Amino acid sequence: MARAEAYLMENQEEIVRLEIKIDPEVVIKQGLWCGLKPGLRVLDAGCGPGKVTSILYEMIQPGGSILGVDYSEERIQHAKGHYGQESVIDFQVHDLRDPLNGMGLFDLIWARLVLEYNRMESPDIVRNLTAVLKPGGYLCLLDLDHNSLNHYELPPKMEEILFKAINIVQEKYDFDPYAGRKLYSYLYDIGYQDIQLDLRAHKLIYGKIGYEDTFNWMKKGQIAAIKASRLFESYPGGRDAFFSDFKKFLMDPRRFIYTPLILCKGMKPLSP
Ligand SMILES: C[S@@+](CC[C@H](N)C(=O)[O-])C[C@H]1O[C@@H](n2cnc3c(N)ncnc32)[C@H](O)[C@@H]1O
Repeated sequence: MARAEAYLMENQEEIVRLEIKIDPEVVIKQGLWCGLKPGLRVLDAGCGPGKVTSILYEMIQPGGSILGVDYSEERIQHAKGHYGQESVIDFQVHDLRDPLNGMGLFDLIWARLVLEYNRMESPDIVRNLTAVLKPGGYLCLLDLDHNSLNHYELPPKMEEILFKAINIVQEKYDFDPYAGRKLYSYLYDIGYQDIQLDLRAHKLIYGKIGYEDTFNWMKKGQIAAIKASRLFESYPGGRDAFFSDFKKFLMDPRRFIYTPLILCKGMKPLSP
């Protein structure tokens, strides 16, 4: 059953947003840390439009295969059309909140930037993933912490609205701005072994901003304005004034924005 309508960032340009913000070199470094190597059978849980899946696929050659699952039919269709290769890069519509029956077992499971959209159900998702991981296999969770909250120096009214908007999407849309800090406890609680963590900069924006970051942040702002529209009207001059000021802030080379990414991996015990 697909329940993608619950996804906070759902919008007509989501495939574009997800694809342009992927830097293959960054994904490869993350994949190496996670232990991707030739021959593995990998699950890319919450694969989006499949670009990351295709990068991971290259890392497991020769001999590896990968299945990408996502609850968005549109993104899975795009992934199949652009990156699918019979039996070695496969894509399937699936909601990770449901058990992953009939997909077989995997050597390594990768879930990047997915749990943050499932605040309440993250422990269930981790349990579902664990059920399809081979004993001795690794579960790799990569998520942001303090997501969208680190901008300096925002005018006080803008900062107030931003923090309130994050609270609204947390409560109403199951979004978790603090997903990263929780990853270790998910693996610890289920009894994973050899748990390892790393902390990297997902975003570090200072000086001149690039097109991808401008597009990404303006898109995030637009979504927030739709999900919490009344809040933005309380800004002096209303919603349009907020966006015009936010764009000015983004374009100002003095501003500083950062988002930490937590990488957490652990081994499923060989015996239960
Ligand atoms: C921010 S994107 C990340 C895509 C990709 N993993 C990457 O690293 O670029 C989050 C993806 O997770 C998917 N997603 C979120 N919750 C999901 C769930 N419960 N089941 C399946 N897919 C989910 C969304 O549809 C979206 O495509």
